[in-house]
Amino acid sequence: MKVGFLSDKNGFRAPLHPDSLQKYDKTQLFVEKDIFKNLDLTANDYKKLKVLNKTSLKQMDVVCFVDSVDIGVIKTLKSDARVVGLFDPKIKKEIKKLRPDVSLYDFFQLPRISRAQNLDALSSQANLLGYSSVLRASLETSNVIPMMTTAAGNISPAKVLILGIGVAGLQAIATAKRLGARVWGYDVRADVKDQVESLGAKFVEASSTSQDGVYARELTKKEESELKKALAKQVIESDIVLTFAQIPGKKAPLLIDKKTVSKMKKNSVIVDLAAATGGNCELTKVGKVVQKDGVKIVGETDILKNVKHAATKLYSENIRNLIKLLEENPEDEIFVEMSQND
Ligand code: NAI
Repeated sequence: MKVGFLSDKNGFRAPLHPDSLQKYDKTQLFVEKDIFKNLDLTANDYKKLKVLNKTSLKQMDVVCFVDSVDIGVIKTLKSDARVVGLFDPKIKKEIKKLRPDVSLYDFFQLPRISRAQNLDALSSQANLLGYSSVLRASLETSNVIPMMTTAAGNISPAKVLILGIGVAGLQAIATAKRLGARVWGYDVRADVKDQVESLGAKFVEASSTSQDGVYARELTKKEESELKKALAKQVIESDIVLTFAQIPGKKAPLLIDKKTVSKMKKNSVIVDLAAATGGNCELTKVGKVVQKDGVKIVGETDILKNVKHAATKLYSENIRNLIKLLEENPEDEIFVEMSQND
């Protein structure tokens, strides 16, 4: 099998990390020449690999990317080639129309079954997202997170609130706890309470909106407004608020309005990780840090940049596991689901 790896033109990660190389024993690997440029690795890390260029691209059985793929590349592929990555839904539609003969394996459509766990790129990246967001908040605040006991007096541990407890939110709780914070968490899904508490954090009760089931549904305007009110007290009392609340494919729910921000303590920080889809805070500006009423609101969209090496390492392993499964069983139902569901 010939597998090509594309460099991440708009991003900072790569679909292949040098540490995964020795695990590809049955596969011929081809890489674009600048694939490791964003990771500050030298040519020595990949000099034994073949070059992926316009000519070799036509021979690839599988092509892997991170989250941006050029339509020009897709046009060049041979019939029944497979393309693996985190697809932008709009680009995916375009590709499907243009090349119905090519199979698209989208990590966003990976079935959530235990057999597919080692392919789960969303979870591996979200874990790092949760970790990195706490560190970002710690750099934005002019306070400290742990309790400090000094001869000059004591500083109380920071109070951290995490909204939206998926994989990223859980890792954010664990990271904030490790740094010594007092942590609260909230998610519309009632089941999450146990997970929050198992990490030593407290669950914020806002029962009027609580939902059953594994996936959250979009709130009505009335429910959203009730939830905002129910969370306001907790937000106002927090030093750091991290927001991850999101329903895939929808605008992010508005959980913090500007009136609530105006009542927060001076020097508190909100890091809004849902900024790219509209934000969980009314004052969030995409890619910017806004200061309002003494509160910093960080509209973060590319936080994985800060952990790009680790993010590439894990993503590369997810891809390696997928290629291994493809070598062993190309007809596996996992691939059917990844290529068919939208
Ligand atoms: P996830 O989908 O597993 O978690 C989102 C959570 O939000 C779910 O548990 C869901 O139940 C919860 N939720 C939905 N509506 C809610 C509401 N009204 N109130 C409270 N909770 C609500 O996603 P994951 O992977 O844990 O988190 C990823 C988040 O980070 C998403 O918002 C995504 O858009 C964002 N993201 C940000 C990046 C950045 O650099 N800023 C990069 C990649 C993703």
